[in-house]
Formats: sequence, structure tokens, C-alpha cells
Amino acid sequence: MSRILITSAIPYINGIKHLGNLVGSQLPADLYARYMRMRGHEVMFICATDEHGTPAELAAAKAGKPVAEYCAEMWQVQSDLAKGFRLSFDHFGRSSSARNRALTQHFAKRLAENGFIEEVTEKQVFSVADNRFLPDRYIEGTCPNCGYDRARGDQCENCTKQLDPTDLINPRSAISGSTELEVRETRHLYLRQKALKGEISDWIDSKTDWPVLTTSIARKWLNDGEGLQDRGITRDLSWGVPVQFDGAPWSGMDGKVFYVWFDAPIEYIAATAEWADANGLSDDAWQRWWRTDRGAEDVTYVEFMGKDNVPFHTLSFPATIMGSREAWKLVDYIKSFNYLNYDGGQFSTSQGRGVFMDQALSILPADYWRWWLLSHAPESSDSEFTWENFQASVNKDLADVLGNFVSRITKFCRSKYGEAVPEGGTLDDRALALIDELETRTRAYEAHMEAMDIRKAATELRTIWAAGNEYLQSAAPWTVHKTDPEAAAAMVRLSLNLVRLYAILSEPFIPDASAKMLAGMKTDDRTWPGPVAEALTVLEPGHAFETPEVLFAKIADEEREDWQKRFAGVRT
Ligand code: MF3
Ligand code: ZN
Repeated sequence: MSRILITSAIPYINGIKHLGNLVGSQLPADLYARYMRMRGHEVMFICATDEHGTPAELAAAKAGKPVAEYCAEMWQVQSDLAKGFRLSFDHFGRSSSARNRALTQHFAKRLAENGFIEEVTEKQVFSVADNRFLPDRYIEGTCPNCGYDRARGDQCENCTKQLDPTDLINPRSAISGSTELEVRETRHLYLRQKALKGEISDWIDSKTDWPVLTTSIARKWLNDGEGLQDRGITRDLSWGVPVQFDGAPWSGMDGKVFYVWFDAPIEYIAATAEWADANGLSDDAWQRWWRTDRGAEDVTYVEFMGKDNVPFHTLSFPATIMGSREAWKLVDYIKSFNYLNYDGGQFSTSQGRGVFMDQALSILPADYWRWWLLSHAPESSDSEFTWENFQASVNKDLADVLGNFVSRITKFCRSKYGEAVPEGGTLDDRALALIDELETRTRAYEAHMEAMDIRKAATELRTIWAAGNEYLQSAAPWTVHKTDPEAAAAMVRLSLNLVRLYAILSEPFIPDASAKMLAGMKTDDRTWPGPVAEALTVLEPGHAFETPEVLFAKIADEEREDWQKRFAGVRT
């Protein structure tokens, strides 16, 4: 048994996430956490909301609420949706927690003591009307390159040219529209990442087993152009972790907070501390996951995230950890994802395009979405959600193959032998061949799950379901029963045991259906299968069961068309 620490990139607090966000980190992390628990490992699965920064402040202002109140409400909304999707976090924390404040300040202090922090005076755009410094993307104006009149200070969306705020013609505040902008001097703390470049580079080099998507992005940022740059880790904002040193103001940093990307990954650690607090446990309880001097040296730490998050997790967060010169756990494996597109375009939060988590659950239960999203996870390239494809997968894989198998065998048994596993008969060659095949496939499935090859695992699982269906079809106990009820009984017994095996193997993908199958088989023996031949004898003759209700309903063409229309526009 090993100990596995799993984190999902923490979602921004402002707004409900879409299915592209979900499949890019939280859902695959959940799949892995569930699988590892099923295999008997000790798992700590952590997520949280990412609450600081300008977008959170602006969203709160738009909602007409104090930012702290807004965040508390949105945390509850996101937490409920996570439960709705059956995301099995051990703790869903908040980056605005007291634990994160203390840890973020602690890391900054250690970095300063070790010479990795530098104070820099820079010039920044200040909006008099808004009484605040404006981040580049909150300055709008006309693009000098293409004339688009809503170009942002960091980039023109229209022609994609990278810009500086000073390049803009007629610049104005994107918050208030005010043109009363001044360039003012401000002091900030910089993390001297360049000084850690060699260490980080060697560390990345040692990760030869990481996915290419992860290492290629890390390498690009390390080596391209000017390479790994020192970066500002403070901002002139009021909402965030105050820049303080042991509770006392950091001289010259009055009224400033740490940059959201500095405190967010530290929340992985803080959320584990929040978990300990919530469960009345001591600091040892969380430190044994994070401190290699307190037992975490035998922990395997795996992070899940979308590709846009990779630079922060391969370079910046490791720089924070390494620069602290303390015994914090570094990540062992990073599983990163490409993007999921929506019906010929992109999912977009700002434009409200696509299907969002609350909408998804309002039309179908979690398992339908989990199955489609995971079996189409954007691993080796971007993938695309279309309603046709979704309908086809649900109807075929879940309803026709798995659901049909379970319903057919339980109903047949009920009608001919009653609701208990029948006795008599022996396994014929066809059954033995099936067991052989399932033995091979189950071991392959395990290997894919260990390797986090999610699509391959889903394909294997689907084939495992299909093998049972094909067996039942060709063994045809309903025909055999007419002449040889004993032989048919052996087929039925095997198939009922298959229902239990399917429930166990499928749990990480479709936990609700899995629970229904186990409840139907009236067993809570969820032991992961050793030799499949043995696993298929657990439900013994005479074991009572209950014919489960329909596991998956098919999606009708009219429903699909209706949803297609409903989600074609933008969410307002
Ligand atoms: N909130 C960020 C996003 O959604 C992810 C933050 S991950 C962490 O892209 F490492 F910072 F925690
Ligand atoms: Zn332009």
C-alpha cells in the first residue's frame, strides 16, 4: 500500500466552470483518486477555490457584493457542483483561508531570508477615477496594428499582436472607461527565479517519465527567448494575502498583497492543513503529506491541470518550494491536458459559450457526463464536444452495452430462477474463454489507469463491458434453459458475478451506476479483482439480489436537438 497525494488545479472563484474546465483537471484527478482508493492505497485528494486577484474583485463588484461575501457564496456553489459531479475531494479548501495566508507569508519570508526576493521600483498605469493601479489587461484602447478599438493592454484579441499598455491609442480603464490615466511609480517584490534556473532545469531533466505535453511546455519556458524571468509576486490591490513578515508590515509594501499566482499553488498545502483542522487533527496529520522531514518522503505526489497551467507548476511553484530551502514535497508527476472544444468553437467563460457544470447536471446525471468527458479526455490533442457524439456514446456504451447487460441478465434470472444466484451446472468453453479474455483485459485496464492513460483505460473498460454482452448474446441462456436448465444456470451465475465485477471496475468512471449495481447485487464486497476466475465466484449460489432499476436512459433525438438549440447561444 502506498500513499498518494493528488491535487487538481484550483478553479477561479468567479463564476461556474464549464465542462472544458472540468475535464482539464478536476474530473481526471477524481478518476485517479477513486482508482487508487479502490486499489487500497492511502489517498489525499485536494482541491480548493482560487479566490484572489482582480477578476474576483471585479466579479464581486458586478454582483454588488463585498468581495469576501461573494467568494464565500461562490465557494458554496462550486462545492455543491463538485459534489453533484461526485468529485471525491478529501477537502475542498479556499485560497483566502487563514492557513493560506500564514503559509504564503511564510514562504515569502523564507525566500527573502535566502536571498531570492528583490525589491523593484517600476512604472505602472494608475487610474485616478478607479483609484487603483490597472493590470495590463484592464487597460483598453485602439490597437496600433489593426485599429480594433477594444484591444487590451497585454494583447489585441483581434490581430493577436502582443502589446504594451503604452502602445494603445486612446487608452482607457476597462473597469470604469475613464481616460484619466497616469503612469506612477510603485515598488514590488520580485522572485529571483533566474537564480534558481539551474536547479529547476536539472529537476525537469530528471523527470524522464513525464508526459511530453508537460515537459515540452516547461522546456520552452526555460529556454526560449529570454528564458525563465524573475517575476513580480506582489500587486497593488486590497483583496489578497497582505505582504507582511511575521504579522508586521513589510517595509515599503504597505497595502499591497501577494500576486494571486504566488499564493494559489501554496493553497494545495494550505488546503491539506484546512482538512486537518476540519477533522480536528494535529499538524502532523497534514505535514506527513507535505514535509519530507515528517514522513512525506514516501508519498507520491501527482498534479492534474490544463496546459495553460503547466508553466506555473513546472517552474514558478517549484521555485517557491526550492527557494524556501525547507523540506517541502515537490511534485512527482504532472498530468496535463489539452483543450476541449465545443461544437465547432471554443468553450468560453467570458463569452458564456458551451455547457456549464450547473446546466449539465440540470439535464442529465453526473455519470453520463463523466463517462463522455473522461472517454474523450483531450490527452494527446484537443478534442471536441458535439451533441451527436455525446448522444451516440451514451446510447451505445452506457445504455446498449452496460445497462442492457445488467438489465437483461437480472430480469432473465428473476423470471426463470427467482432473485437469487442459481446453482448447478458447470462453466463451458465459451465461459472459460470469456474469463481468459477478461483476465487479460482487466490487467491491461489496470496498467492504463496506473499510467493515467485515460482514453485507453476507457476503451479497455468499454471492451470489458462489451465482452460480457457478446458472451450473453452467444451463450443465450434463454434458449439453453429450455433443454438444459442446469447449463443455463451456470451461465446466469457467471453473468450475475460479472455485474459485480463491472461495478468494481467501473467505479472510478461512473460511481453512481457502480453503487446501483452493487446495491442490486446486494453486496458491499468491493474488493478489487485478483484472478478474474476467482472474482467471478464471489456471489455464491443462493445469494439474493434485486433487479436494479434502469441504469442509463437513452437520449432521444428530440432531446438532443432541444439541448443543441438551448446551448447554441451564449449564457447571460
Ligand atoms: N485558477 C487557476 C486556473 O483556473 C489555476 C490555479 S492552480 C494553482 O487556471 F496552482 F495555482 F493552484
Ligand atoms: Zn490589433
